[in-house]
This record gives sequence, structure tokens and C-alpha cells, in this order.
Amino acid sequence: MTKPYVYITRKLDEASLTPLKEVAHVEMWPSEDEPCPREELETQAAKADALLTMLSDQIDEPLLSKAPNIKVVANLAVGYDNIDLEAAKKHGITVCHTPDVLTESTADLAFALLMASARRIVEASDWIKDGNWTGWGPLLLAGADVHHKTLGIVGMGSIGTALAKRAKGFNMNVLYHNRSRKPEAEAQLGVTYAAFEELLKQSDFIVCLTPLTPETKDMFNEKAFDLMKNSAYFINVSRGQTVNEDALYEAVTTGKIAGAGLDVFRQEPVSPSHPLTTLPNVTVLPHIGSASVETRKTMMRLCAENIALVLQDEPAKTPVRL
Ligand code: GLV
Ligand code: GLV
Repeated sequence: MTKPYVYITRKLDEASLTPLKEVAHVEMWPSEDEPCPREELETQAAKADALLTMLSDQIDEPLLSKAPNIKVVANLAVGYDNIDLEAAKKHGITVCHTPDVLTESTADLAFALLMASARRIVEASDWIKDGNWTGWGPLLLAGADVHHKTLGIVGMGSIGTALAKRAKGFNMNVLYHNRSRKPEAEAQLGVTYAAFEELLKQSDFIVCLTPLTPETKDMFNEKAFDLMKNSAYFINVSRGQTVNEDALYEAVTTGKIAGAGLDVFRQEPVSPSHPLTTLPNVTVLPHIGSASVETRKTMMRLCAENIALVLQDEPAKTPVRL
């Protein structure tokens, strides 16, 4: 019997793919940074038994309807808004993602971006490198305190909970907003549930960690920024589509809020001429929430294991519930 064929849409660490290579013939798009073009993805999908995809690949009905053999799509991300779940279900395809293994790394990055925004870390580093440091000044690059402030977490999943733990170590008061209440987090971490508008009004730092869904799309709009304190910072480590970027630009340039830290954008890669990337009080990162070497390799291995299991008619470890 010939081995099933698996296509991976980016060049990944070979050693992390060992569990898959034992049971399948594996090919990869040869670049680490350049996405596999749509045409190539369609050609590969048409003959593949499984795909290992990136969050930048659109896995939709037009693609899946011409991919008769695909049994499983494993996405190298916890989020799966790039995959049409209805279409996958219709074609009997298992969709897998990488929850849990990236929780702590992503919470680290979210807290780092919060700290960087408050204390102007990137701005200060750039300032020295641009040759501006001529003398020490009492209020030189002075930012905002983080400790003892109020953090508002929007999207209290496992990453939100891990972020709350970090915030508690900084003596922060933590509010959260989520579709469902989290009594365990409330009891164990001392976090407080707040309605969305209340959270926006009371928080000094608002961190968006919610998955992108029709309900969360554009939830950070002009009205939301209007409700925030003038001293507030908005941090996004979820998906760019949760934010109206024009409204955010207006908020950070007119002093409605103090600044922003963005790991994600509506259009990625974001252009260096995008208005939000030109502002000193907006810290920008290229979607690196889970990007520690250890965690990314663990995510690759989990995707490989999921595909190997499904190809052998075993239940996947971390399927998305369709
Ligand atoms: C990254 O954004 C992920 O969803 O894992
Ligand atoms: C948080 O949004 C999570 O996916 O854990």
C-alpha cells in the first residue's frame, strides 16, 4: 500500500515531524517566511490526504471541494478562523489546532507587550539606536506604572487565565469579560467579571485575547475606544479583525487613549506605511504570540501527531469540535 500524502504549507523543523514521517509521505513548501501561493496550495490539496496549515492559509469551500482525499487539516495555531468549519464538516474532514501547548508562551508575550507599551521599551531602545541620547532626564521616556493598576482581559480562555496569573504577581486588579463566567478563575485568582462596557471604562490596560468569531469581529470600535480612559493602553494578541484600525488610529492620535500594543493586524504582514506602525505610542509585533522556539516546535509536533492519528483512523489529540 502506498503511504498517504501530507502537504505542509511552510518549511518546518524536520525533527518535529518524525511521528508523521513514519506513516506518511511528507512534502513541504520550501520557504519559512513566504506563504505557499494559493495556486500551489490548490494543486497540493487536490492530491493530498492531509494538510498541515498556517493561520495565513485560507482553507475554504472552493479549496476543499476540489480536495477529495483530505481526511484532516491540522492548523499550526490555537485560532482557526482561517478555516471554514462548515465546509470541513460537509466534506467529513477533521480539523485540528494547537490549544494548551502555547498558552504560557502566549501569555508571556501578552504581558511583555503590555509592559513594553506601558514603559515605552521599544521606543526607548529605538531612541538610543537613532543616536538621541545626549543626557539623562528626570522624565525622559517616562511611561505608566503597571503594578497596582487595573487589567481588563477580554476573552478569558486558558491564555486569559494565564495572563491573569502574571498580572496578580504584579499586584494588579484583574477584570475579565467572557461569554461565560469563570467561577474557578474568580475563586482561585481573585479576578472579577465585568460587562464589556464596564471593563472598558475601568481598566488601565485592556488586553484582547478572544477568538475571532462573527460576534467578536470589530468589537473594538470607535464606541469602545471612547469608553476607555485617556490613560488606557489597548493590547491585542488575538486577531486584527477584532479591531477597527481606523478608530484605533484616531484614538491613539487624539489622546482618547494613551497607546497600544499590537501583535496582530487586519492585514498581515502589515505594511510599514500602515498608519498604526508609524506612531511612537504604538508598539507593533509581527504576530509572534506563541513564538518561542520550544513552543513552536511543540506545536509542530502536535500537528504531526494529530495528522498521523487521523490517517491511521485513530481519534485526533486536539480536534476542533465541528
Ligand atoms: C496564533 O495567533 C494562534 O492562534 O495560535
Ligand atoms: C483564549 O482566548 C484562549 O484561546 O485560550
